[in-house]
Amino acid sequence: HYLGLDLGTSSLKALLMDDGQRVVASASAGLHVSRPAFGWSEQDPADWIEAARTVLGRLREGHGAALADVEGIGLSGQMHGATLLDAAGAVLRPCILWNDTRAHEEARALDDAQARDITGNIVFPGFTAPKLEWVRRNEPALFERVASVLLPKDYVRLWLTGEAVSEMSDAAGTAWLDTGARDWSDRMLERTGLSRAHMPRLVEGTEASGGLKGALAAEWGLKPGIVVAGGGGDNAASACGVGVVRPGTGFVSLGTSGVLFTASAGYEPAPETALHTFCHALPGLWHQMGVTLSAAGSLEWLSGVLRETPGALVASLGEELRAPGRLAFLPYLSGERTPHNDSAIRGAFVGLQADTSREDMARAVMEGVAFSMRDCLEAGGAVERLVAVGAGARSALWLKMLASVLKTPVALPAAGDFGAAFGAARLGLVAATGLEPAGVMTEPPIARTFEPDPGLAEPFMEAYGRYRALYPALAALAR
Ligand code: XUL
Repeated sequence: HYLGLDLGTSSLKALLMDDGQRVVASASAGLHVSRPAFGWSEQDPADWIEAARTVLGRLREGHGAALADVEGIGLSGQMHGATLLDAAGAVLRPCILWNDTRAHEEARALDDAQARDITGNIVFPGFTAPKLEWVRRNEPALFERVASVLLPKDYVRLWLTGEAVSEMSDAAGTAWLDTGARDWSDRMLERTGLSRAHMPRLVEGTEASGGLKGALAAEWGLKPGIVVAGGGGDNAASACGVGVVRPGTGFVSLGTSGVLFTASAGYEPAPETALHTFCHALPGLWHQMGVTLSAAGSLEWLSGVLRETPGALVASLGEELRAPGRLAFLPYLSGERTPHNDSAIRGAFVGLQADTSREDMARAVMEGVAFSMRDCLEAGGAVERLVAVGAGARSALWLKMLASVLKTPVALPAAGDFGAAFGAARLGLVAATGLEPAGVMTEPPIARTFEPDPGLAEPFMEAYGRYRALYPALAALAR
């Protein structure tokens, strides 16, 4: 058996699979995001550990025998977060998350030709390096005490194994990695007052990063010392879960963030498009992705306001895809990365009228997210077909909408859970067995493929035109 642990933004999930990659069990525990100031988004790393303890305890209750048989663990997680530790390994402040935009000035200052040349990316405010620069300027006494900086899942790894290690896919989202060379960049580190000494050791996602500590193994009835794989950032891990490892294949993810991900043949940076070019979790591979910051996160927000669950809200719309109405929603709840790289922009409903219903609003939110994914596609993410992952992929209506808006068939894997936690378990399997990654990271069986509806192509493109026209107006207001 193999175990995948995915530290998401809204929950931490553990997934247990057998040697034939059948999912035996999974468990998840919710996580809270604090927003103490405008554009801030933080989590307490202690909550991640508590959530990991909760899910593993739950798996032990129902599946103790399978847990006792686990040979490898893989980790995946929300990317870019800055977890700051002192020399004794104590956490210095709440983790600054991927969708925190406070470091926009620092990002702008770092984002020059040299940075783009080394990292292959725009230095986005949500990336890790500008956050450290923000801490250096705004919390100088704390900055002086920073001995190491870890990405969220790598902090969980430190707890599990005692080793400070990262892997290429997540490290590529820091703006400290020479993405083509798959190594830390001394120059980029120096530009934020840091050095290699602050960074974890790097491995590939398929390699071993350490062994499970005996005391923790005993707590859950796992074997002590079993291998913990490098794993991957949640998007690279999801790609492993749905078999997106061959150039030209891609997936669309509707998690808290929305991602349009394509595997590439080599290192092909295109920072000017606001696409992200990162290392894949497999050695010698890279990928590109467009990222919209609030996808299923937008629907969660609306359901919270309407005091419903996202599932109930979506269910109230039925499954039939209709032409879009006049109500538009712009999903910039935490600013936007692709294509605008605009941390100041905020969302909007435009076109509310006296009889606008909650259903109209829910539909507009789903359409707005689909249009923001279209922006990612237009930035250069085109592929022949996209596999769907993430919580939002549970809605057939949303997938139909995406197929029509992206003019690309969207394939939904058969019942099962092939997201980041599954991909992480697969990386655990490869690290434990040494099997050829390509043979392990296959595409899951597809239950349903949603084709673009030719009859709705025009109305959706018109609505997309209106959506595009609204950004400059909102941007002017946000200045
Ligand atoms: C990717 C990104 C998000 C997080 C979400 O660049 O910021 O997709 O990884 O967990």
